[in-house]
Amino acid sequence: MPEVDMSVNLAGMVMKNPVCVASGTFGFGREYSEFFDLSELGGICAKGLTLHPREGNPGPRIAETPMGILNSVGLQNPGVDAFIEHELPYLRQFDVKVIANISGNTPEEYGVMCEKLSDAGVDMIEVNISCPNVKAGGLAYGTRPELAAEVTQVAKQHAGSVPVMVKLSPNVTDITQIARAVEEAGADAVSLINTIRGMRIDVNTRRPILKMNTGGLSGPAVLPVAVRMVWEVAQCVKVPILGMGGIAKGEDAAQMMLAGAAAVAVGTALFADPFTPVKVREGLCEIAQKQGLAAVRELTGGVRPW
Ligand SMILES: Cc1cc2nc3c(=O)[nH]c(=O)nc-3n(C[C@H](O)[C@H](O)[C@H](O)COP(=O)(O)O)c2cc1C
Repeated sequence: MPEVDMSVNLAGMVMKNPVCVASGTFGFGREYSEFFDLSELGGICAKGLTLHPREGNPGPRIAETPMGILNSVGLQNPGVDAFIEHELPYLRQFDVKVIANISGNTPEEYGVMCEKLSDAGVDMIEVNISCPNVKAGGLAYGTRPELAAEVTQVAKQHAGSVPVMVKLSPNVTDITQIARAVEEAGADAVSLINTIRGMRIDVNTRRPILKMNTGGLSGPAVLPVAVRMVWEVAQCVKVPILGMGGIAKGEDAAQMMLAGAAAVAVGTALFADPFTPVKVREGLCEIAQKQGLAAVRELTGGVRPW
């Protein structure tokens, strides 16, 4: 079979292949590096960081569902400074793009973190806007276009030359509104989807399974929702898309790229098989070869709608 060029360009960040790992499902890579060389990946979206360390929510905070999981981990992390001091130097040993993922309580917190991370030299900053804004009554930044735009603007002002990718929440009526708002506010790329809010209940105790009552659904169950949202967003913005949500094999990644993603990320599927991202890359390459493509990026946006 002829060679396929697997490289992709995500907002100026060139990756040797389109397969990343999704934030919060890969920690800072240390555990997974016992299974495979992290340089096999295109990029690593590191665990979500906050300005100060966080312990996360009380347990139980993970529950299984048909073809997925519900989680309410709640951004447990060591804080942005500890990441820069201990985790970034570790990740820098590998030939892989490092994407820092951040969550803030206020736009100012996003700004401070962007400044620290751009000084530290990460390759990209992924701005998670699925966190509640206390001033706006606990609404997630990601559910209101004007709040999403404000956070994006502040992040861009403080990120220097580091590209800013905004991670969109699927828990909205029209995701294209938020996508357009963050693009207008200067986002260099968008990533989607984050988890879909869900709930499970133990019928005997009548208690929700998760201590936080509700959680975020991820895994293969959400793939069709994610593909649909990537397709919708791709039609209304020019910035590149990192597509994720339920990817477990090469064909899933190919669907996501055909819908319009420039690159993809694997999350929950890692918990069943840590080698998933490597297998996804191989599967994607095989599909591109069988279809006679010279470069995998030719898949992006190639869907032929009826
Ligand atoms: C346990 C867990 C923790 C997560 N933590 C974060 C996080 O810190 N920041 C973030 O932006 N997304 C986080 N996510 C969302 C994932 O990055 C991803 O968007 C979502 O799970 C959909 O992809 P998947 O179905 O392949 O897992 C988390 C997901 C899971 C399952």
